[in-house]
Amino acid sequence: MSATHPLLPAGQQPGGPLTALAPMQDVTDLAFMRVIAHYGAPDYFFTEFFRVHAHSRPEAHILRSIDENTTGRPVFAQLIGEDLGHLARTTEALLCHNVAGIDLNLGCPAPKVYKKNVGGGLLREPAKIGEILAMLRAAVPGLFTVKMRIGFDSTANFDRILDLVNEHRVDLLSVHGRTVKEMYRSEVHYDWIAHAVARVKCPVLANGNVTSAPRAGEILAETRAAGVMIGRHAIRNPWIFRQCRERFANQPVTRLTLADARDYVERLYRATQSPTIPERYHVNKMKKYLNFVGQSVDGTGAFLHDMRRAETEAELFSICDRHLLAEPTKEFSPEPYPGVIARPNCETPSETADGCSLETVTA
Ligand SMILES: Cc1cc2nc3c(=O)[nH]c(=O)nc-3n(C[C@H](O)[C@H](O)[C@H](O)COP(=O)(O)O)c2cc1C
Repeated sequence: MSATHPLLPAGQQPGGPLTALAPMQDVTDLAFMRVIAHYGAPDYFFTEFFRVHAHSRPEAHILRSIDENTTGRPVFAQLIGEDLGHLARTTEALLCHNVAGIDLNLGCPAPKVYKKNVGGGLLREPAKIGEILAMLRAAVPGLFTVKMRIGFDSTANFDRILDLVNEHRVDLLSVHGRTVKEMYRSEVHYDWIAHAVARVKCPVLANGNVTSAPRAGEILAETRAAGVMIGRHAIRNPWIFRQCRERFANQPVTRLTLADARDYVERLYRATQSPTIPERYHVNKMKKYLNFVGQSVDGTGAFLHDMRRAETEAELFSICDRHLLAEPTKEFSPEPYPGVIARPNCETPSETADGCSLETVTA
């Protein structure tokens, strides 16, 4: 396991493995971070990515997840872009906010993104990555972190990029153990995450299909990573970070019920509600979270089937009551039920969609 970096903010479990909420566009906003923190905050938060281009300004709604964050946990601001001048300008602007550090996105697999040579597209160009890392390292006096996939269509450039991570003194590396071309379809290559852990000097967060606290323990044992970064399974189960800490301390892991899940749905609905968002739109947004929650409700997909048909708040909660409060003490499964699929369950694979977004995906 990597030695913990002396400059990284301490985790909540001294000496224990770290936990982080993965950045997810249109998901990990201020409201969602607050809800997650209510059930057990991760050690670190990462913002949705700030898009960096000639006309970009840090997006106001993402800045809120930094400026108004009262969770007590550090927030890293993530950037996606490739132009050195604009990245430098955006970094300077973000450093005026209370960020724990600046994170560079080297993983977004959406074709519309990688075709602009940003996100996962940069993994084809190690030389360009070297220039960006050199510039960002010079521009960031505090923590500078990177989140990457293991390659674009193969791992051919992986070692070269890991060596650049060392050369430019990156402080923390998050590795999603798939290539860009593998999207979310393949198994996660934990052996390649272990390879990164062995090669880089900084701590590594293992990312990809960390489904539960026991799986987090197994993945840490296999990769020797300093911690885990969890995305979709924290949408499904917001207690997962607390459960991880319990598991890491060899304590009994909190068991959850369908009544607990009902509480989560209510809290999430209220937290993400706004007078400016029409009810129908908000119900549809809720379905995007509930897609994941439903994977732990039943093994038949009945909750997902019914939930997807709700059009009003009243219908949505009546469906939730029927499925979650009929047997309130029934276990909310710690692992997703096999074969119960969240749709969409990933960043968009669509050519027409605008970036790594749940919002823009209809399939
Ligand atoms: C809806 C959605 C949006 C995402 N947005 C981002 C993003 O803005 N930045 C990023 O680095 N990764 C993004 N990701 C990738 C996740 O951070 C994470 O690497 C991926 O989901 C694998 O982890 P998981 O299996 O724990 O979900 C996104 C993933 C999803 C599902």
